[in-house]
Amino acid sequence: MIKFRKSTLILFCLIFYFACRVLSDDTPGEKESAQLTQKREMMIKYQIKARGIKDKRLLKAMQKVQRHLFVPKSLWDQAYNDYPLPIGEGQTISQPYIVALMTELLELKGKEKVLEIGTGSGYQAAVLSELCKEVYTIEIVPALARASKKLLKEMGYKNVHVFEGDGYLGLEKQAPFEGIIVTCAPPYVPKPLKDQLKEGGRMVIPVGETYQELKVLTKQKGKIKEKSIVPVRFVPMTGKYIEGKIQLPKPVLKGDMSVEEAMYKRRSVRDYTEESLSLKEVSQLLWAAGGVNVDGITGASRTAPSAGGLYPYDLYLVAFNVKELEKGLYEYVPEENILRHVKSADLRAKIVQVTYFQGMFKKAAAMIVYAMDYAKVEARYGSRGKTRYAHMDIGHSAENVYLQCESLGIGTVAVGSFDDRAMGKVLDIGKDIVYLLPLGKKK
Ligand SMILES: Cc1cc2nc3c(=O)[nH]c(=O)nc-3n(C[C@H](O)[C@H](O)[C@H](O)COP(=O)(O)O)c2cc1C
Repeated sequence: MIKFRKSTLILFCLIFYFACRVLSDDTPGEKESAQLTQKREMMIKYQIKARGIKDKRLLKAMQKVQRHLFVPKSLWDQAYNDYPLPIGEGQTISQPYIVALMTELLELKGKEKVLEIGTGSGYQAAVLSELCKEVYTIEIVPALARASKKLLKEMGYKNVHVFEGDGYLGLEKQAPFEGIIVTCAPPYVPKPLKDQLKEGGRMVIPVGETYQELKVLTKQKGKIKEKSIVPVRFVPMTGKYIEGKIQLPKPVLKGDMSVEEAMYKRRSVRDYTEESLSLKEVSQLLWAAGGVNVDGITGASRTAPSAGGLYPYDLYLVAFNVKELEKGLYEYVPEENILRHVKSADLRAKIVQVTYFQGMFKKAAAMIVYAMDYAKVEARYGSRGKTRYAHMDIGHSAENVYLQCESLGIGTVAVGSFDDRAMGKVLDIGKDIVYLLPLGKKK
């Protein structure tokens, strides 16, 4: 065995250490490191503090997190400049001031569980990790999710959990979150994110297509309040949920039948022709069930009343035979007057079975489904909200559908009798399904 003197060994170690530092791509030399630290200080002073960001913990975090390590090495010298930078895969790292502004708007105190949509480079997650207890972050581009996960782990961030997936859906299992920050722009606030925001929590999100607004949403007593902050420009949110939206025709406000006549003639109809329904017809019926008066025509916000205006139900449409729609399950988003594609499938046989072969689904062209969100009413009204108000609300909505059906020559029947568990499995939306309205042309 070769023996070295202790001093020779130390010398070898030192040479090896410096050789590694010189050869390593990602470790800046001392001079470069000092320059980058200085640039970071300048960034805080002239871009962040000068524009009014005051949160001391945030300023400290942004001074600590080495932003340059989150961009390609060729861009290190620009990492602290006042603009966003490309990070590959068509994505960007946001301008430092926007990171600061969005983070400050979350008003973090240190104990929160925060959800970030759009991990990107991982920089925003690293800043958040210095300011709250746990950060859950989702990235839809697999290569970016893998890279940021690796980088954050190497940098020792133990409270950041990176997931690869569609941010539209949030992270149901880890919910609720005291803070949600979205770093890509959806055209509207995804409902799952609203649902996953904790009572008293804050969501910071850019919303819009060509023109985007940075918004802060807060949840109080189950209700979401929205405030616009500044116009912004983010990469669009992608994914099948956001992209899989079907714009519905505007509701028609004048029909051929008076309300009185519709009430007089209304009956439950359990057998239909085999004709299809059109998208215009189903959209008119969904609007009757709980649409939003987008034009503010009546001044009322939705077509059906609801205790406290909470609307503790989500409306889904199962298309069996709708002209413009693929067979399958869709979620109705009243605020946007859209259908969001959930899954493609021919569900008729299974639904006939789980409704105890009652018959009305054999020929129905579509079905409206009431899926409950009891947490909304329970937060405000306790058990009374769940056992009374929620079900009164869907009664009002279903009666609207009955009347609208009558005026369109369409038949429906309220169906409350079915196998709850089996229906839950067939639709698989993770919510309590309590009421069904099959729809079909009258014979
Ligand atoms: C809460 C509720 C649940 C119902 N469930 C069923 C059902 O499972 N199957 C069915 O054939 N009819 C069902 N109906 C329809 C009633 O049987 C029907 O409304 C009643 O007989 C009155 O008839 P009409 O609607 O034609 O006036 C239900 C109605 C309500 C309000």
